[in-house]
Amino acid sequence: MRTPIVAGNWKMNKNLSETKSLLSELTSVSLPSNVEVVVAPSFVVLESAVNTTSNSQVAVAAQNVNAAANGAFTGETSLNMLQSIGVNQVILGHSERRDIYGETDEIINEKVLQSIEAGFRVIFCFGEQLSERKDGSHFEVVSKQLSSGLKGVTAEQMSQVVLAYEPVWAIGTGETASPEQAQEMHAHIRSFLSDAYSAEVASGVRILYGGSVKPGNAKDLFANPDIDGGLIGGASLVASDFLAIVAAAE
Ligand code: 13P
Repeated sequence: MRTPIVAGNWKMNKNLSETKSLLSELTSVSLPSNVEVVVAPSFVVLESAVNTTSNSQVAVAAQNVNAAANGAFTGETSLNMLQSIGVNQVILGHSERRDIYGETDEIINEKVLQSIEAGFRVIFCFGEQLSERKDGSHFEVVSKQLSSGLKGVTAEQMSQVVLAYEPVWAIGTGETASPEQAQEMHAHIRSFLSDAYSAEVASGVRILYGGSVKPGNAKDLFANPDIDGGLIGGASLVASDFLAIVAAAE
């Protein structure tokens, strides 16, 4: 049995006081023990978030990292810096990093490899654009993103990887992939893993769905055999919504 994960990607939202207040709401209730809960606040509040959640079931992830160890990379943050404040999970390959900041499959792959090497858990995101869904190339696009992004990751290291399928057309649009569309893609991803690694790896990796997951649709999405929870954007910013989504993954 794979333990479901519900992760909140806060993106560029919540300052320090807002972070403390949202986290105090999330940590003051008892969460289902069989769901892993992760939040990814902005860099400047990460240390505070680690401290606020230290005695709770809520884990903290970064939204990005630089693959280099240190040096002249103005504005960037290293894996060691994250580790030094107690963060050991990172979201990589998000479509906003790809589309707005020009992160290529190669750049993302380097981040994936360095993060794994440093002992991090990687939440690796990928997903097709609307035009690719419309022209029927979505399975091919996702396979390519997986093979490029995970290049050089060994079967053993796949235990440090969580996959997040986020069709770009469903992110922040209010339009969700139907449970059937999501399950179909997740089954495709699992069969990719089976071919690239082994049936054992394929059955062990958690595959999250992301893209307009809300309290009203989470249960139907998570009920599918290959959907192991969600990566939540907008709805993770409101405690009651996020908690309802966590409950739906139980
Ligand atoms: P929304 O839930 O706001 O669509 O965002 C999804 C997402 O991008 C999570 O990483």
